[in-house]
Amino acid sequence: MAPDAKKTEGIMGTATVTQVPCDVKSLELADQGKRRIEWANQSMPVLQTIRKDFIKRQPLKGIRIAACLHVTTETANLAITLRDGGADVVLCASNPLSTQDDVAASLVRDYNISVFAIKGEDNETYYSHIMSALDHKPHITMDDGADLVTTAFTKRTDVIDEIIAGTEETTTGVIRLRAMAKAGELRYPIIAVNDADTKHMFDNRYGTGQSTIDGVIRCTNSLLAGSKFVIAGYGWCGRGLASRAKGMGADVIVTEIDPTKALEAVMDGFRVMSMAEAAKIGDIFVTVTGNKNVIGKEHFEVMKNGAVVANSGHFNVEIDIPALEKLASQKRATRDFVDEYSLKDGRKIYLLGEGRLINLAAAEGHPASVMDMSFANQALSVEHLVKNHKDLDKKVFPVPLDIDKKVAKLKLESMGVKIDRLTPEQEEYLASWSEGT
Ligand SMILES: NC(=O)c1ccc[n+]([C@@H]2O[C@H](COP(=O)([O-])OP(=O)(O)OC[C@H]3O[C@@H](n4cnc5c(N)ncnc54)[C@H](O)[C@@H]3O)[C@@H](O)[C@H]2O)c1
Repeated sequence: MAPDAKKTEGIMGTATVTQVPCDVKSLELADQGKRRIEWANQSMPVLQTIRKDFIKRQPLKGIRIAACLHVTTETANLAITLRDGGADVVLCASNPLSTQDDVAASLVRDYNISVFAIKGEDNETYYSHIMSALDHKPHITMDDGADLVTTAFTKRTDVIDEIIAGTEETTTGVIRLRAMAKAGELRYPIIAVNDADTKHMFDNRYGTGQSTIDGVIRCTNSLLAGSKFVIAGYGWCGRGLASRAKGMGADVIVTEIDPTKALEAVMDGFRVMSMAEAAKIGDIFVTVTGNKNVIGKEHFEVMKNGAVVANSGHFNVEIDIPALEKLASQKRATRDFVDEYSLKDGRKIYLLGEGRLINLAAAEGHPASVMDMSFANQALSVEHLVKNHKDLDKKVFPVPLDIDKKVAKLKLESMGVKIDRLTPEQEEYLASWSEGT
């Protein structure tokens, strides 16, 4: 943040004294962004509670944070919470297509938070924005997919000594970081926010489930009822997507490589088959595996005319787009985020959102009420790392259980839901091996 930039007071603040360093599409979009940030805030009661507490205690005072996250209304509320806890925050995008330009503008103009992100930026700009975030010399890195950490470790080793710890938001990022730790390459402790129960059980399942369908429908205006909806991957995201697509009347088909997950899909009532079989009958395909080339040349070759293909996994490698390009004689944009590939045999295949996460490329990402929990975990994990980083090895750590439970408790309270407590007798029963014999 520019040294003379004045902080605004809480979420409702508007005063702009000095513009902080930024690269956003247009500051003229800020009015709309501010209204949308405030709208999301209403559905983030857990984060609001944390923010109020942070304002009083200032647990992040003097901490510089570089966050590489999807620049959405919900992320804006996280950034404001961290800032209100005393941190100096800079934000860049974790995907070239996921930025909401109005939100980026408002963060800069209304909240004096530096943002480097423009929706549709090319790869070079995407990485130059990550570099700008690292110029901030962060103490904490906050990642969604591990691009920030990877860039720091490969191209910006000059900033590593000052970094004390980091957090990671998504499944794919956690996998990359665990591989780094295994190879002895991780240079500081990182908390896997994705692995908190109050993150993946809700965000990945209900958030990705709903918003992926939102993205597909906004792009295509397709009727899901009666369609053959193929989902590759029956993990947390895939399960959520499958149950929502089924609820809308689709005939859901699942593909998997893990026998247990495949069995679960069968017992949940879905047809399970290989992608080679599914490719011949599907109307709409969505990949959510975190793996590469899940839909490839051999699948495009047998798809029906008019098949729609999308991805909601983290990287745009799940669909082999170069193979599709090679099979096509012509490509044109037909609607926003819909590319029509005309194949040499006359069939047409429609690729949504350039194969990038469709819920963020074509819709607004997860609803705020689910990001409330993910970002509450982020905020509390950062505080935990600031307090405890000296005692942590250079490894990937889970979110501490007390934080995970606190987030669930606060969310239930905000929903007015009361639950039972163990009686002393029940506690004793559960703790004893001799009871029940
Ligand atoms: N779109 C979003 O907003 C969003 C949100 C959360 C996570 N994600 C991303 O979605 C992806 C999936 O996340 P998750 O939490 O569901 O992971 P997960 O590990 O729970 O599930 C992934 C599943 O894909 C299966 N799989 C792997 N390779 C496959 C293949 N070739 N064919 C069929 N299935 C295959 C695995 O067996 C596993 O069951 C990750 O990249 C994650 O980062 C996206």
